[in-house]
Amino acid sequence: MSDFPVRLRRSLLFVPGDSRRKIEKATTLPADSVVLDLEDAVAPANKPQARALVRAALHTLDFGARERLVRVNPWSSGLLADDVRETIAGKPDGYVIPKVRTVDELGRVCALIEAQARAHGMDASRMALLVLIETALGVMNLPAIAAFGAPVQALIFGADDLAAEVGMVRTPAGLEVLYPRSAVAIAAAAHGLQAIDLVFPALNDEAGLEAECRFGRQLGYSGKMVIHPNQLAVVNRAFSPSAEEIARAQRIVQAAEAHGYGAFALDGRMVDEPIVKQAQNVLARARAAGLI
Ligand code: COA
Ligand code: MG
Repeated sequence: MSDFPVRLRRSLLFVPGDSRRKIEKATTLPADSVVLDLEDAVAPANKPQARALVRAALHTLDFGARERLVRVNPWSSGLLADDVRETIAGKPDGYVIPKVRTVDELGRVCALIEAQARAHGMDASRMALLVLIETALGVMNLPAIAAFGAPVQALIFGADDLAAEVGMVRTPAGLEVLYPRSAVAIAAAAHGLQAIDLVFPALNDEAGLEAECRFGRQLGYSGKMVIHPNQLAVVNRAFSPSAEEIARAQRIVQAAEAHGYGAFALDGRMVDEPIVKQAQNVLARARAAGLI
């Protein structure tokens, strides 16, 4: 897991952009980021009213410290330009771009958003883009997409659209998505981006959610998409280091400093540079989460 050059994004709460009630509710929930969705959560007939509602919500509601993101429709839909045009006046903190297939497509989307931001007197360089990898081409083109640079800050792994395209059969254990899920985390780390993990669709399976968070962390993910308020506490906790992890990391870093680094034994285990680096990552995440 890489360091956190940008803001803490343990939980990205998706909220249907045509639901005033859920958007208002989201401003009270413990999500690091709120994603006002114009894509899959909104029926085609509701897109125009959802854009207007999202713009109004961005203008009038107090989201506190929560990041305010808008998920637009994919480039191929022909809806993306209007999604941006109709919401940019709300000055969101950034956009989530679904179904990105090629770096060329990402470049077009980015140019469109930057032009709109400038037209509204915004500093386009401060607007974050979070890129969803959820198509077969997106997975094939990961090295170029991950290397795009600013304003891309995170890669998000979307399993269900990919499964539909590839003909995967989804299972609770998720072995079928291990390759792309792991590839997204590695591509993100290679370019200092955050990696945000897949949606857990079962709304009342806390143990299953916890297990999926744990495995996402094992793969290098720093956060997860969330679809229901009940999932937030589990996800925030899972993507924050535990007290034991922090204590252990502090012990490793202190011991390394005392030994002048190199390899040494601690509690019957070898510690060397990569182990120290992992401990430093835990401490960076703990600091970002306000735990130390
Ligand atoms: N954001 C904000 N509030 C939400 C929410 C969300 N994603 N999901 C549910 N809530 C609110 C409900 O409004 C309700 O609050 P209320 O009683 O004050 O109205 C409360 O949480 C409990 O909701 P519940 O009745 O259990 O869920 P539901 O049947 O209303 O909705 C879903 C279930 C799945 C439709 C809903 O959770 C949802 O819309 N999720 C996001 C879907 C989405 O964005 N998908 C695209 C990305 S994958
Ligand atoms: Mg989707």
